[in-house]
Amino acid sequence: MIDPHSFRDFEHSGWQGIPQQYHQAFGELTTQSIEPLLDAAGVKAGTKVIDIASGPGYVAAAAARRGATVIGVDFSAAMVGEAQRRNPDVEFREGDAEQLPLGGALFDAAVMSFGILHLARPDQALAEACRVLGSGGRFAFTAWAKPEEAVGFGIVLGAIAKHGDPNVRLPEGPPFFRFSEPDECIRSLLTAGFESPKVAKVPQMWHLPNPDSLFEFMKESTVRTAGLLRAQKPEVLEEIRDAMRDESKKYQRGNAVELPMPAILACAIKP
Ligand SMILES: C[S@@+](CC[C@H](N)C(=O)[O-])C[C@H]1O[C@@H](n2cnc3c(N)ncnc32)[C@H](O)[C@@H]1O
Repeated sequence: MIDPHSFRDFEHSGWQGIPQQYHQAFGELTTQSIEPLLDAAGVKAGTKVIDIASGPGYVAAAAARRGATVIGVDFSAAMVGEAQRRNPDVEFREGDAEQLPLGGALFDAAVMSFGILHLARPDQALAEACRVLGSGGRFAFTAWAKPEEAVGFGIVLGAIAKHGDPNVRLPEGPPFFRFSEPDECIRSLLTAGFESPKVAKVPQMWHLPNPDSLFEFMKESTVRTAGLLRAQKPEVLEEIRDAMRDESKKYQRGNAVELPMPAILACAIKP
């Protein structure tokens, strides 16, 4: 059974330790869907925007570049510090997506880039996004496509399933790929109070320096997947690393590795 408090604590302590590592591994990747995300949320000059689970602040910074007035919110003080350091002219604040530290109906647009799959209570966060939007405000979020398509996840999960134990004890959270399902995105957005939900897929490509990078990035720069890897027995972990290297080589282009990592982009309107 999911204990939202232990899952939140697990995620929180994970993110607190990896702002730099996350940027190094995922910065080049998650930024590829920023422009479609901002377009889906209708962000333009003068739009009042909240970037929820803002991490290093990529989306907030891009919204500010469009001339929007933006605030980024993240529950990790370390991530907020990293975002502020990278983007001194944008406002960032510590706060939980499931209980935003802001009044209602303040924003024209809300965005969440690859945050929803890290939340203990994503439905609560959707309701919060709806609460802080004014009538006619737009919400848009991204999540990874299924592991069959988001190849980096397919490779690591496949290697763990083949050589390790996918059921090691970790604080249980909601299904990682719940929002990879368009129907689930639509159902969840409607339940949270939004209308006119739409879902699209955004192609993205992860450029990794070498065939060992996927293992290193998954182990050092994520939270849930890193927990899964670190809980494997040492000898098994070596087998997983070897399997991931072999699979990654299939995507080698010169010295680099290019893994398709499409995103699901969902958006809706507050009535
Ligand atoms: C995968 S990162 C995404 C960062 C950034 N939005 C991006 O697109 O690269 C997930 C972020 O969600 C934040 N996060 C996780 N759970 C949260 C919660 N309950 N409330 C606020 N932020 C949360 C983490 O601290 C982390 O910065």
